[in-house]
Amino acid sequence: MNVKPFVKWVGGKRQLLAKITPLIPEAFTRYIEPFTGGGAVFFSLSKRLQDGQIPAWLNDINPELVNAYQIVRDRPDALLADLHTHIHSKDYFLSIRSLDRQVGGLSSLTPVQRASRFIYLNRTAFNGLYRVNAKGQFNVPFGQYKNPAIADADTIYSCSKALQKVKISCSSFDKLLPQTNEGDFIYLDPPYIPLNKTSYFTSYSQTGFGHTEQQKLADLVRDMDKRGVRFLASNAYVPELNNLYSGFTIIEVQATRAINANKDGRHAISEALITNIL
Ligand SMILES: C[S@@+](CC[C@H](N)C(=O)[O-])C[C@H]1O[C@@H](n2cnc3c(N)ncnc32)[C@H](O)[C@@H]1O
Repeated sequence: MNVKPFVKWVGGKRQLLAKITPLIPEAFTRYIEPFTGGGAVFFSLSKRLQDGQIPAWLNDINPELVNAYQIVRDRPDALLADLHTHIHSKDYFLSIRSLDRQVGGLSSLTPVQRASRFIYLNRTAFNGLYRVNAKGQFNVPFGQYKNPAIADADTIYSCSKALQKVKISCSSFDKLLPQTNEGDFIYLDPPYIPLNKTSYFTSYSQTGFGHTEQQKLADLVRDMDKRGVRFLASNAYVPELNNLYSGFTIIEVQATRAINANKDGRHAISEALITNIL
């Protein structure tokens, strides 16, 4: 059975797993995700990776997310004990959220408390969004959920098991991709190219992700391809892909997304899977 991610993440790949899984090579020596987010693809593969003793490396630029992965891996009992102390109310939510606006607020927390804050906010904030403003402050409103699963022991323990022996790092993709080798399989799920200017969801991190980063990513992917590294990438299905990824296989797939909190709600949109495997 698939392991369920311990965070809800915008752009989560759970609904595309049926399209992604068949494209994953049968054999590879290392599994790497530079943009892990909720890690839906990693968790769905984790049993296979563990059974085959295939090393995995998960990376993301978001330090709170990366700390949460490390704590889920190493301290699941302490994390669950702390998660049980949270209260589900708007006032309490706002007080926990505001810790990153106070001098020394976040740094006064232990790594376990920081992971617990992160998971609490993820479970109780609107749409499970993680969004920060230009100062790096979490700014998603209270989600008004009736009964959010704040301390979900089954999920935390199954993710913890899946993460044993996994390398977890916090850096930008451009530092990581040059460290890949022939035989590795890389799954890349970067922030997407915008469908139009208003739909650009770039606020996973303080730094944003624009055209320059998309071009840098495509250049590094081409470099990996030349070195015999196999990759599968997701992105929005937009004409720009034909330039960025010319010469690679580009497959159009349908997904339902609620990327913006706009009044139209969820939309069926085309996404692309790009690979050098086929
Ligand atoms: C689309 S999400 C990944 C979704 C994920 N695959 C899932 O299934 O939930 C993109 C991720 O890239 C991360 N990110 C943004 N800029 C980055 C960078 N320069 N280097 C590495 N990660 C970055 C964000 O923090 C975010 O978690």
